[in-house]
Amino acid sequence: MTYGTTVPYSASSPGPRGSQRVSPGPAGTGPAGTGPAGGDLPRLLPVHGAVPVDLHTHVSRYAAPPYFGHPGQLIPVLKAAGLTGRGGAAFPVYRKLQAVAEARTRPVVIGNGAEGEPASDKDKSLLWISPHLVLDGLQLAAEAVGSQAVALYVHRNARLQERLRAAVAERAAAGIDRAPVEIIDAPPRFLAGEESALASRISGQPAMPRFKPPRVFERGVVGRPTLVHNVETLAHMALIARYGPAWFRAVGTPGEPGSMLCTLHPADGRRDVVETALGTPLRELLRLDGTQAVLSGGYHGAWVPAADAARMTLSNEDLQPAGAFVGAGVLVALPATRCGIAETARVARYLALESAGQCGPCFNGLPRIAAALDEVASPRPDPRAVTDMIRWAGLVEGRGACHHPDGTTRFVRSALHVFREEIRNHSAGRCVDPAREPFLPLPADTALAAADWS
Ligand SMILES: Cc1cc2nc3c(=O)[nH]c(=O)nc-3n(C[C@H](O)[C@H](O)[C@H](O)COP(=O)(O)O)c2cc1C
Ligand code: SF4
Repeated sequence: MTYGTTVPYSASSPGPRGSQRVSPGPAGTGPAGTGPAGGDLPRLLPVHGAVPVDLHTHVSRYAAPPYFGHPGQLIPVLKAAGLTGRGGAAFPVYRKLQAVAEARTRPVVIGNGAEGEPASDKDKSLLWISPHLVLDGLQLAAEAVGSQAVALYVHRNARLQERLRAAVAERAAAGIDRAPVEIIDAPPRFLAGEESALASRISGQPAMPRFKPPRVFERGVVGRPTLVHNVETLAHMALIARYGPAWFRAVGTPGEPGSMLCTLHPADGRRDVVETALGTPLRELLRLDGTQAVLSGGYHGAWVPAADAARMTLSNEDLQPAGAFVGAGVLVALPATRCGIAETARVARYLALESAGQCGPCFNGLPRIAAALDEVASPRPDPRAVTDMIRWAGLVEGRGACHHPDGTTRFVRSALHVFREEIRNHSAGRCVDPAREPFLPLPADTALAAADWS
């Protein structure tokens, strides 16, 4: 089952508009394991409409955060739930908490709401509509690792940040937080949410990634062990702490349990944020007739032919053999009338501009890959362009301080494979979409943002 906002929050126009599909959802509170029926969705967004949930409504629905009283106690609960990170890498949450809880220095805890991916809206929507679930999760994570240094790192949007500051102040007045929460703004860059970039920004430096090790959970913000979790992960954490692992596992698959927020881009050009169970067939999320390919995992993800996507579910088990992954839940249905190569070339140019410019192969290689893809997108391209691109891709992969080059080449390589028929068309001087109206979303002010890392 899938529930969601039909017109979600968007950075350019803050605040949810439109309606939300209606379903039974979390109602009432209770000790772990005795909450609302586990199969009910949505869990993270309100049952009716897309109206922001204030503290009073939140507390009457869920009660105050269920503190455990001692560090460490939430960790086995999260392990049993099988919660994985919703920021893209699907790393088991309990393992990061355990590593940070065992550190000898007092740790820092950060909620990551940077959402630098232009095709994703789910974190901004969640923060706008259900901020208190995220803030509960932040408090519970801080208790679990024994931290008093807590911050929420949020996409640079004045209205969203103002709302979050008000929510934090409301909680402070009600005395329900154990640790004070600071709101820190994330620059509007693709890489700003990468966790070492985040740690650098919160330490007062530019939001640029750095080489690992040490990992951020070992040495992050001002050199202290730092637990970074995506804001959606924290919201799931807040509910698992209340209702328990069996409740969480009532939807999803045994290997990939629970629900997740997805940003859907159907072929008709709409943009929806939905909450759905892991393991939901992709054809239930996106109408695939009239679609030539599905992009899964956003701009570091991969294209999958629509016919293959129609047989797949929203799960890494299904997507990974096809070179794709669930990532942070971005799914795009590319209409049959659009040029997949031209679309990929446009995004590749943007990704090349978003290189932090610290690592030679990435700084030099990504623009060359983007230029070669531009050539392939043109009428009767130089036949050497594809080979050049593959050579450059090989030279940048695994050569960066962060995964930006690897993610970019995965995206580009998948386009060369999935849109090979279109490449043949271009060689013959034809294109399925000579008008080239942009379909994949990109920030309007890329050029302005190019100078802004802090
Ligand atoms: C290039 C890049 C950009 C990223 N951007 C974000 C982001 O905007 N938001 C986010 O939560 N995680 C982002 N991540 C993942 C973070 O590095 C980190 O793994 C995540 O915040 C951890 O949270 P989770 O375990 O709850 O998923 C990004 C990773 C990479 C490589
Ligand atoms: S790999 Fe690229 S984006 Fe990542 S830190 Fe190096 S230069 Fe920056």
